[in-house]
Parts: sequence; C-alpha cells; structure tokens
Amino acid sequence: MSSSSDKSKLWGGRFSEATDAFVQAFTASVEFDQRMYRQDIEGSRAHASMLCKVGVLSSEDRDAILRGLDQVKQEIESGKFNWSIEREDVHMNIEARLTEIIGDAGKRLHTGRSRNDQVATDIRLYLREQIGFVISELRRLQTGLLELAEKEADTIMPGFTHLQVAQPVTFGHHLMAWFEMLQRDAGRLHDCRTRLNVMPLGSAALAGTSYPLDRLYTAQLLGFDDVCRNSLDAVSDRDFAIEFCAAAALIMTHLSRFSEELVLWSSAQFSFINLPDRFCTGSSIMPQKKNPDVPELVRGKTGRVNGHLVSLLTLMKSQPLAYNKDNQEDKEPLFDTLDTLLGSLRAFADMVPAIQAKKDNMYRAAKQGFATATDLADYLVRKGLAFRDAHEVVGKAVAFGVAQNRDLADMTLAELKQFSAKIEQDVFKVLTLEGSVAARNHIGGTAPMQVKQAIAAARNRLT
Ligand code: ARG
Repeated sequence: MSSSSDKSKLWGGRFSEATDAFVQAFTASVEFDQRMYRQDIEGSRAHASMLCKVGVLSSEDRDAILRGLDQVKQEIESGKFNWSIEREDVHMNIEARLTEIIGDAGKRLHTGRSRNDQVATDIRLYLREQIGFVISELRRLQTGLLELAEKEADTIMPGFTHLQVAQPVTFGHHLMAWFEMLQRDAGRLHDCRTRLNVMPLGSAALAGTSYPLDRLYTAQLLGFDDVCRNSLDAVSDRDFAIEFCAAAALIMTHLSRFSEELVLWSSAQFSFINLPDRFCTGSSIMPQKKNPDVPELVRGKTGRVNGHLVSLLTLMKSQPLAYNKDNQEDKEPLFDTLDTLLGSLRAFADMVPAIQAKKDNMYRAAKQGFATATDLADYLVRKGLAFRDAHEVVGKAVAFGVAQNRDLADMTLAELKQFSAKIEQDVFKVLTLEGSVAARNHIGGTAPMQVKQAIAAARNRLT
C-alpha cells in the first residue's frame, strides 16, 4: 500500500492543499473494500457497455475500457496491483489504474455515475454471491443432520425442559429440531437475496443523471431483477445489509444453542456423545483434557455477529437522506459477519455427521428422571380419571420413587396400586421408554416412525 501527499486525486480539482496524511489514511477504505474488486469491475463493464449502447460512449472507448479492466483484474489476481490509500477506495484505485493503462478513455467511464451508486451496487453484487455460499454451507449442515438423524431415529434419550429430565425423546427427533431451525434460516437468506437483487446504478450521486441511461439494460447485464425506483433511497439505505446481518445473527444464535448442547453432552457428567478428536483440542497443562473447542468457539462468535447487527442498525439510525460517509462503515461488520458465519457453518457441517452417540448413556439417563410420569398420568386418564386427578396420583407415586430411589417402571403392581386402584398389569407397557416415545405418533411427534417420515419429507424440502 503506497501513500504520498501530492494532490493527484481523482477529485482534486477544487482543492488548494493536499489532504492531511493522517486524514487520508483515516478516511480511506481500500484496505477493506478491495475485496469487492470483482464486483466493481463487473459493474464498470456493464456501465461502459450501456453507455455505448445509448450513444454516450464510442465503441472504441468501450472496447478500450473492457480491455483495460481485464488487465486490471489480472494485475489484482496475480498480486501485481499496487493498492494505494491515496486513491482512497477500491473504486478509485481501479479507475485510476485503468486510466494509466488506456489513457483518456478511462476518464470517460465515470460518466453518469457516482461512487455512491457504484458502491451500493458493488455491495449488493458481493452480498448476492456470498449469500449463495452461505446457503450451500447451510444445506451441507442440514444434510449432515439428516444423515445422523436417520442413524439415530430409534435412539432414546431424555428430553429436557428447564434442563431437567422431562420426557423421553429420540435423538433423531432432537436432531431434526436443528434441521427445522436451519430450514427457516435458509428461507430468510432467500428472502434477503430476493429483496437485495435490485440495482442502484443510474442513481448517480443522489438525484439521478442527465445522461439518457438505459438502467434496465445495465441491470440485465448484471443479473439484477429490477432497478431501484428512487435514486435517493438507492444510494443511501443499507437495509439489505442489516437484513442479512439479522438473518446471520439468527443462524449464529441457533448454532450457539446447538453448541451449548454439544458442550454439555460431551462432558463427563452427561457423556451422551463423543466428538471425534479432529474437532477437539487438548490442554497444555492437563494431559487428560479433550476440549470441545469448535462448539465453544461458535458459541462465542455468536456475540460478535450479534454485535455487527447492532453496529449496522446504529450506523443507519437517524441518517438524513441521501449518501453519508457514515455508510463506508457498513463494510467491515458485514464482511466479518460473512467470514464468521461461513467459518462456523463450515465447521459444523464437517463435524455433525461425525458425532457419535453414546446410546447406553442416553438410555440410562432417560430412565433416571421419571421421564414416563406423564405417560402414567395419560394411562389413568384412559382409565377414566380426570387429568388433574391423574397428575396428583402420579405425583405421589414419583415422591415414593424419589424416596426409594426407584423408577416407576421398577415398582411392583401392588406398590403402584397404592396410588390408584385403576392401575393394572398393562401399565408396564406404558412405563417403558420405548412405549413412551412410540405413543407420540403424530406429525411433529417423537415416535421413531414419525421421525423417519420427517427425515424423508425433509430430504424433499431440501431439493
Ligand atoms: N468508499 C466509499 C464507501 O464505502 C465509496 C462512496 C464514497 N462516496 C463519496 N461521495 N465519498 O461508501
């Protein structure tokens, strides 16, 4: 990155002294916006082609611009491009270099355009592509969840409320809960992509331009569905980036919940799962340690993404129309959100299919917390008791079990009959964990049969 304090700026005409060296560095964005170079070049190519189509640019100039932009791109990709903070941002770096390469034709590229509509267009193009990458990682994670859920459709574990054993569920059912969350997340990303795929170019600085631009043609070249319908709005609002960050914050929030469970489950106290060594690290002092770093880090990174959402909301808040330099601050939170989200999804997509369930431990834990108490109450209701009375009866039986340190299923019929004469031999079917999960046999329920159907349906929803 080079810098000097001469006044050879693209906008230097009305200035009588060079920019203060610190101000130059302080106001420059090239260090972080250069990652949009492909979109900037693509946008310029489309703009030049359109200018030529409407007769504002000669075909010789257009061809020189297209050729020059190819060379700029090649210089950037081969690491030969000299990014300069004196040229402030990605837009002026590319334009200035283009003019060095092709001469005067380069100076005509910016006709009917401003960096304000240019940058708004670049970010939309960039985010549009990145959302595609996010969706594919999300899909990969969902596919991994389906794979694991299929293997574990019959595996019984305790289901929790308040982190206390509540009712038995199947591990497959539990995993499918994550699938559903991610399915809604994917929907939000699709919505966001649809709404952002509208082109600001042609809005120029704020009011539009006096050249006879064919905006719809440029939009078509760039794959936009439409053009922004108000120039002031188009150059200034960053709601599309905020929307994306909100969707990202929700994905990370879902992953943080998932992470928390993986951390708990891989502890010696739960010991429900084994995370393969390649997703864990050790301790420099305690030789026995195997730490679930991936879920822990993802849980931590959620804070960072939530923070970026608040940054962007605060950045946009109270901004008067139209473009303000504040908006240059949209990029770092947005880019870091993308990097963090993509990394987290990738780590999870790699890790999830490799999770090993410790089925015996899960089963034993489900047997411990009177997880079939509701089943006993439902049984008594079928025998004619009102649910509230049944609840009371079972509560007493549980208290007896707690005192004796025995599960309901381990009591004799005579013992159970102390609490209600309606209890018969057939109660034991109901008190098994298998009977309990199999009974929840409806759409959305935990019965293994339902879980298998849910997995099959989910496969279709993915395609
Ligand atoms: N680097 C600027 C940004 O990121 C580009 C637009 C600057 N426009 C301006 N009139 N200073 O927003």
